[in-house]
Order: sequence, then structure tokens, then C-alpha cells
Amino acid sequence: MKAQNKQIGTPMNRVDGRLKVTGAATYSAEYQLPGLAYAVLVGSTIARGRVSSIDTRAAERAPGALAVITHFNAPKVPGFAKGQNPSQPPTAGQPLQVFQDDKVRFNDQPIAVVVADTYERARFAAGLVKAQYVQEKHQTDMTVGTRQAFQPTQARKNPKSPVADYQRGRADAYQTAPIKLEAEYIIPTEVHHPIELQAVTAHWEAPDRLTLYDKTQGTIRTRNDFAKEWNLPEANVKVIATFVGGAFGNGLHSWPHESAAIMAAKQVNRPVKLVLSREQMFTMVGYRPYTWQKIGMSATPDGKITALTHEATGQTSTYEEFTESTVQQSRMMYAAPNVNTRYRLAALDVSTPIWMRGPGEATGAFALESAMDEMAHQLRLDPLEFRLRNYADQDPENGRPWSTKFLKECYQMGAERIGWSKRPLTPGTLRDGDWLVGYGMGVGTFGAHRSKAQTSARLLPTGTVLLQCATTDIGPGTGTAMTQIAADTLGLPPEKIRFELGNSQFPTAPTQGGSSTVNSVGAAVQEACLALRDKLRQLAAASNSAFAVAQKEDVVLADGYLALTGNPAARANYADLVRQPDDALVTVESKPSEEQKKYSMYSFSVHFAKVRVQPLTGEVRVSKLVSCADAGTIVNLKTAANQMKGGAVGGIGMALMEAATIDNRFGRYITKDLADYHVPVHADAPAVEVLFVNQPDPHVNALGTKGIGEIAIIGVAPAIANAVFNATGKRIRELPITPDKLI
Ligand code: MOS
Repeated sequence: MKAQNKQIGTPMNRVDGRLKVTGAATYSAEYQLPGLAYAVLVGSTIARGRVSSIDTRAAERAPGALAVITHFNAPKVPGFAKGQNPSQPPTAGQPLQVFQDDKVRFNDQPIAVVVADTYERARFAAGLVKAQYVQEKHQTDMTVGTRQAFQPTQARKNPKSPVADYQRGRADAYQTAPIKLEAEYIIPTEVHHPIELQAVTAHWEAPDRLTLYDKTQGTIRTRNDFAKEWNLPEANVKVIATFVGGAFGNGLHSWPHESAAIMAAKQVNRPVKLVLSREQMFTMVGYRPYTWQKIGMSATPDGKITALTHEATGQTSTYEEFTESTVQQSRMMYAAPNVNTRYRLAALDVSTPIWMRGPGEATGAFALESAMDEMAHQLRLDPLEFRLRNYADQDPENGRPWSTKFLKECYQMGAERIGWSKRPLTPGTLRDGDWLVGYGMGVGTFGAHRSKAQTSARLLPTGTVLLQCATTDIGPGTGTAMTQIAADTLGLPPEKIRFELGNSQFPTAPTQGGSSTVNSVGAAVQEACLALRDKLRQLAAASNSAFAVAQKEDVVLADGYLALTGNPAARANYADLVRQPDDALVTVESKPSEEQKKYSMYSFSVHFAKVRVQPLTGEVRVSKLVSCADAGTIVNLKTAANQMKGGAVGGIGMALMEAATIDNRFGRYITKDLADYHVPVHADAPAVEVLFVNQPDPHVNALGTKGIGEIAIIGVAPAIANAVFNATGKRIRELPITPDKLI
């Protein structure tokens, strides 16, 4: 009885959807451990200097207070003392070692943590902590920072670093060309702001055994970071992140609040829960760095790009060099002979940024794809036609063939759906009543990354297959996609698959980020299922010789027994095969093959926007968005489309609303909540139409996937900015495009 289901590609509902909407899903702030205490952080009120004294007496005497920890009394953290770097994103420097010295490096840096028996009492007591400072002159202004920009250390040390300067043909060749443009673009600091606040519950189960219920995108990364920090064997640290309520990148790094909670739990000898406030989400868990960019471009009169220069300077902190791939798309998207890129950093008295929503590529695409639109306008060419004339049939960065590239197909599908033929070549000429109407497009790309990943598969005597993997699901529907992959691989209905995730004690997985989970974990799930099927064949072979000589592909997991295609006599009951829980257990490690190095592997997207602009008020309404993706095989049409829509809405935020504003006099953010920091609400988002090419990529993995998460947003902001130009003739090069910039 072979199941006829074909789950991959169907719009299956989320396996955990009911748990989430009924409140039965447990998030990291919701674990009620016996004896739980609550911690609240106190942040500095200056941006740079030293803490000279902290008066904690009132806080210590406050009702329910259990401890107040500052650098004056903090336990020495063994990993800090060794100077180990507890977190290793591709940055140079050292993450903030909280409460270990008197230095203040940014405004709202944690300088104390107050622990009490309830959250309210901890919060009240935290308000009683009074600090005195020796203030130093701070610098938080990027207009100054940009002038003092420097090359990242990793690029200086290694010319092959992805953030090193890049050149093919002549550098800055656009400068001497007759048809050229040179323009500067700015994106402000943007903050992740998932709805779930950053939260951790730290529990020392023994003096050398630590459990963290943590909002993280990587249980293994977090485990390794804190094992190092506390000088513990990795096996003694357990990280649980079964449900994560969005993250957008801020769970890709370990942060001071996690160390503070662990320290506090040690000090009071109770489990401690620490939840950041929305205000602290602006300052303590990363952000998309303010970035200045300049594009120089030249072209022939018939629309061939002859030269492209892309320079970028991103903001970082004084203690870590955060880098991202801001200029990458300019190297590989268009077939220009002369291309060079320069990436620089500006170190300010702010906290460290971290990848956010399509990270550097989304930032870079705003500059590149705006400039493409500007050049097309200068040439009086349709921007889509201009892109087609510069289409790269192989990767111009390294000459390799693409593993797959269906961007032309995306262009065609999207142009048709948005009604691109209605776009006026001359801006400001299309009206709908009082409103100006315009169309714009923007292209996105992101590497189809795959890392090694492990998964275990176990047949339970009931005939259910239990898979386990340490991966997290920050929202894309990982558990659902993996269930579909396992169901298809084993020929079982999805109800017979249970996929468990979010636990560092499960087989190891990469951090969920960079659009790589299905590429990596999906491959491991598929391989684990195949290995399980063969394990079952071997178990059956012990008592039935038909299984010994059978082909692997002929083994069928039927309802209650193992069978063989074409041999109805061959049957082995699961109850006989699985006598001990581990009898039918396999664990595989899946990794990319060397073959992959022959290809350039990227996902591609194009976003088409139609906007309406009210010329008197400068109000911009996105009336339609069409997002098309070449992301290889689409495992789940519903969750994949959800992700594309989410990215598109994030792109609306980037284009029209989001900006964390700092008051440079104090080096302090004045946007402190979601009332001042605007994100798109339902009324700001049109119905987003999502189209997938849905062609498998044979080179990334056997499933044919390439990844969706990042390309969902990369290219959206310039599509909207270009549509605003088409509507109004006003080119806005500094995001967000707020009404004041249009009137
Ligand atoms: Mo993402 S910025 O890879 O969480």
C-alpha cells in the first residue's frame, strides 16, 4: 500500500499552526520553572565614558529584590577572562563583555541587572539604580563617520575576503565615459523588531550544567557561545528554542542580555528570566546599519553598461567590526566589463549591528537598482529592457556557469502581472484623479548557501517516523517543509511524520539564517529518510531473505509493516523490527558536494511595484506589488508565498517608513517604540502577488531548492523608490521616502 501523496510543492498547512494560534506553543519567555526569578537590565544614559559609581542600595532594599549585579560585584566569567570571543559572526573585535569593566561604549549599554521575585518588582527596583559617569565625547553621527571610514580588518588581512575591494577591468572607468551617472544613496539605521521580544530563561541545573530557553536563530551557535563563555563542555549546555516569534536576524549573534541572565541565575542560584523591553530592542540586539553608498555607472547609447563602481560605508560599533555583503550584487548581476567595489566601515559609539532581513544585499540593491533605473531614464530606455540588455548569462564575477538562473522568466511573469506595458516612459504623466501613478521594478539576488547539517530519523513501533534536528524555525515554517520532504521521501502521509526541532541536543544544524535552512536541513532530512528506509530493509533482511536482495527503492513503508514493491509475500511488521527504541534509528550528516564549486549558485527575484502618490501631501500608497522568485523547487507553496509576502511588506517598511533616529547630541535613539518607529501595518500593505518559477536547481541539493528568505525583500525598496520616481519625477536617494521628501 504505497502512499500516493506528493507533498512537496503543495500548500500544506503549518504543522504547528494550531499550537501557535491557540497559544499552546511555548516561547522562550513562557517557561515556568520552579523558583523562577526575574531580571531587568539597567542601561547607561551616556554614549561614551566610564561608570564611576553606581548606587544600588535602594534597589537592593526594594521589595522582592534578590540581587543587583554591576561591574563592581559581577562574577568573573571564565570565558571573558581568557579573552575568548564568545560569538563569531564574520566580525573582528570582541562582543561586549557585560559587567566586566567600567567602560561605556554606547547609550543604553547594560550597566546593571536587577533580579527580583517578580517581573514588576525587578522593574521597579531597576528604576532605583543610580549611576554616576565620567563622560567622554561621543560620536554617533554617520555624516562624520563616513569621512573617517576604514577598510575592515578582515579585508586588510585577506585580499580574498568577500568584503575586500573588488575589480574587473578598469577601476572607476565610468568617470571618463560620455554617458554616466554618479549618485549617493543612504539608508538609515533600521531595527529588526520581531513581535516576540528577545527573551532568555537561564537555568543552572547543576554548577556545571546550564540550560537556556532562548530566543535564538541557532541553538548550536548559542550553545557553543555560552559553553565557551562559561568554560563548560558543549554537552553541558542545552539550548531550547522550540518556537521563535520572528527574529529577522537579531538571533544570529549572542548578546549581553543573555550573559547577564546567566550571570544572574548563577548569583541567585535560581532560574532567571530576562525579557528585553521594546525600547531595549533598539539598542541591545543589533540592527541594520546606517549605510552610505555611491554608484558610478556608464553606458553606451544603446544601453550596454560599460562600467560600474559601487562604494559603501556601513556603521559599526567601536568594539566589533560587523560586515555584510552590501556590494555583492553589483559584482555579479550585470554583464559589465569594468566593475569595482569598495566596502568600508565607520566605527561609532553605538552597539554592534547584525544582519537584518536580506541584510547587506537588501541595502546594496537599493543603490544598484535605483541607479539602474536612473541610467535607464537617462537613456530613455524601459528599465526592464535596460536590464535585459545587460543580462549576465554566466557569473561575470568568476566566469562560472549559474547552477540555474530563471531571472528572465521572472521578469516576464512579473511584468505581465503588474501591467508593465502601462508604465509611462516619461515620469509624472500618469494620473488617477488627483493621484500620480507610477511603476517601478527592482531585482534581488542571494547566494544559494548550503551548510552541513545532521538529522536523525527513527521509526516508532506505531509506524510514525520521528525526525530530530537542532534547527530552529523563526517563522518560515521549517517544521512543515521538513514534514513534507520526509513524507515524500518515505512515501508516507504527513500525519505519519513528526519533525522535532529547536533543541541543541538534537543532531546539529546550522543557524537559521541566510536563506539556507531548506537547502541544508532539507537535504539532511531527505538523506536521513533514505538511510532509515535502508536500515529497515536490513532489519527485515535478518528474518526475510527477500529484503536482503531487494533494491533500496523497492522498500515500501506501509501502514504497520515494511513491504516490497512487486513481492506481496514480503512483509515485516514494525512491531517485530523495532523491539528497542533505538533499533530503527539512523543519524546522518549531509553536506554539499565538491561538484558545487563548479557553479555560481544564487536565488533570484524581481519585484514590481505600482504606487499612487498624492502630490499635495506627498503620501505614497503602494497599490500593487508583484514578487517573482527563482528559488528552485518550492517545497510548500503556502509558506513560501507567506515568506515572500512578509519580505515584500518588510520592503515597504524599508522604502517608506522605517528609520531609527538618533539624537547625536546625546548619542541616544529618539525612536523608542513602535509608535515612533513606523512599520507597515495591514492598511499599508496591498495584496502582494507572488509568482514562483519553481524549477529545481540540480546542483544545490537533491531537492532542487535554492532559498527564499532574503530574496523576498532584496529589491523591494528600490522597486518602490523607482515607482515613486515614475509617478512624480522625484528621485529620492535617502530612505525612507516620507512625505516631506516629496513636497
Ligand atoms: Mo537573516 S538576516 O539571515 O535572519
